[in-house]
Amino acid sequence: MTAPRDDLRVRLESAWDRSDLILGLLEADAWLQRPIALRQPWIFYLGHLPAFAWNQVWRGVLGRPAFNAAFDRLFERGIDPVGDVYAPAGVAWPSPAEVLAYRDRVRDALRRSFDDVRALEGTDPLAERGRIFQVAIEHELMHHETLLYMLQQLDDRYKRAPSWLPPFAARGAAAAGAVAVPGGRVTLGASFEELPFGWDNEFPEHEVEVAPFAMDATPVRNAEYLEFLTAGGYDRREWWPEAAWAWKARAGVRHPAFWARNGRGWTCRTLFGALPLEEAGDWPAYVSWAEARAYASWKGLDLPTEAEFHRAAFGAPGGTARSHPWGEEPAGPEHGSLDFRDWAPTPVGSHPAGASAWGVHELVGNGWEWTSSVFEPFPGFRAYARTYPGYSADFFDGKHYVMAGASWATDGALVRRSFRNWFQPHYPYVFAKFRCVARETPR
Ligand SMILES: [Fe+2]
Repeated sequence: MTAPRDDLRVRLESAWDRSDLILGLLEADAWLQRPIALRQPWIFYLGHLPAFAWNQVWRGVLGRPAFNAAFDRLFERGIDPVGDVYAPAGVAWPSPAEVLAYRDRVRDALRRSFDDVRALEGTDPLAERGRIFQVAIEHELMHHETLLYMLQQLDDRYKRAPSWLPPFAARGAAAAGAVAVPGGRVTLGASFEELPFGWDNEFPEHEVEVAPFAMDATPVRNAEYLEFLTAGGYDRREWWPEAAWAWKARAGVRHPAFWARNGRGWTCRTLFGALPLEEAGDWPAYVSWAEARAYASWKGLDLPTEAEFHRAAFGAPGGTARSHPWGEEPAGPEHGSLDFRDWAPTPVGSHPAGASAWGVHELVGNGWEWTSSVFEPFPGFRAYARTYPGYSADFFDGKHYVMAGASWATDGALVRRSFRNWFQPHYPYVFAKFRCVARETPR
């Protein structure tokens, strides 16, 4: 059996391998490109991943001096602007060679730090169970997905499609209508003592009562979302929350960000190139929260709350919560599209073995799911104050919504019941799908 510490070493190395693989898809002249105006250029992320790990492990827990304090600061933090436009101040970025040298030096230092961190177990909760390495690993894994959002938006001339990309999957099953989900108690969050690792916002564990509701058995597909668009969905003010309407007008949003129109009709963007929308009609519609909310209003329905998502995904007759919608087994290829198996969405309905106890499909996998819940701390929340106080707390501003589940670009390590993701409502580049709910008693 592999000792846990060896497992952390292996996981850290394999997270680095995937970072290198993704950044290796860029052409040599891509480093200063910013494919998403709200994000930094690529060169920032090349330095951010090592700087973050360094700042957490070496500077944070071990309290050691810097070898390049300027880079530690320059690459310390990403951005999540809630406004529409972000213009970084004129940064004179170092050369890729300088950043790569910094990265390699950080990696070597981290490889040599396991025993020193271990010596702090018992006095430092972040050292216990290798938590600080988990912070570095999961941060890197989460960035893989956000790097792919950027890669998908990057102009074709700055990237190259690898030969190993899997082919797009065939068509899915028919839409399954709505299913009844009985009311009951759900467990949100996890126990800090019991969960091997979780982020600050996942604690503490607590129970919430959920009233019965009906939920779409499958997420909304591109073909269904097209009906909303052709029904004038983007022109009807009454379907859009006020701030969403203002954003749509200001940003000129007329369709999902991954869609485009050419002489022959709509297309849907993929990591490399675009498909005619008919060929992607069974894929889940990836849209912003605001667009998902407008679609639900058009249907006279709502988005599920975070607690309703949990009831639908992890609840079961008898009251015992499951670890995954399908049960206790770890996520396999039959359960859903996640963990970089597909590198693209798959047709809705392709993973019936992953359905929940109530018969709701694809709650985990094939795209995160938007909820109507504002991202807030659980009662009794405590930040990882010493090394990363702002991980969640900076976003408890009433301007972010919880996303649950997982996408095809979510590493299997992040597929756990208590994991919470969040985004601002007008960010249109996420691999996030949605479905609707109806309630007997309005909230
Ligand atoms: Fe980051």
